[in-house]
Amino acid sequence: MKKVSNPIDEILGRYKPARREDLIPILQEIQEKEGFISEQAIIRVGNHMKLSTTKIYGLATFYDQFRFKPKGLLHLVVCNGTACYLNGAGAILKKIREELGIEPGETTRDGRFSYDVVTCMGGCSNGPLILVAGEFLTGVKPEDITSILGSLKKNTTSENI
Ligand code: FES
Repeated sequence: MKKVSNPIDEILGRYKPARREDLIPILQEIQEKEGFISEQAIIRVGNHMKLSTTKIYGLATFYDQFRFKPKGLLHLVVCNGTACYLNGAGAILKKIREELGIEPGETTRDGRFSYDVVTCMGGCSNGPLILVAGEFLTGVKPEDITSILGSLKKNTTSENI
């Protein structure tokens, strides 16, 4: 019988123990595989790296690329690159923050929404850009956010995502 290994153990198995320079690549791989870094993952990484979980958490939170909760059922990617910023992405982010009550990288309590901010999605001339459920929304304005989120909320159930 073949033993099924845990994806985190598989990742850790490719790195020598206690090499601190491997910490960030390991966390990046775990996030890539799992979508976020769970408490369990931090404990396992700590055992492998011979580092306390507090130390790992502290180092990981220093980099805003890491997420510690699963993404929401609907995950928005908001561009705040130079072109989108100049076209009002800052006001869009402010509005999203107000409407959802969360910061980038966080997930709403009901698990429906999360969002991240990126620096360019390659559609600068059509910005500001938001990517949601595989669809690009272009030329978004702050005043569009309430209706965009409203219609997403209305259509969001765990079955249709
Ligand atoms: S800066 Fe937003 S798509 Fe390039």
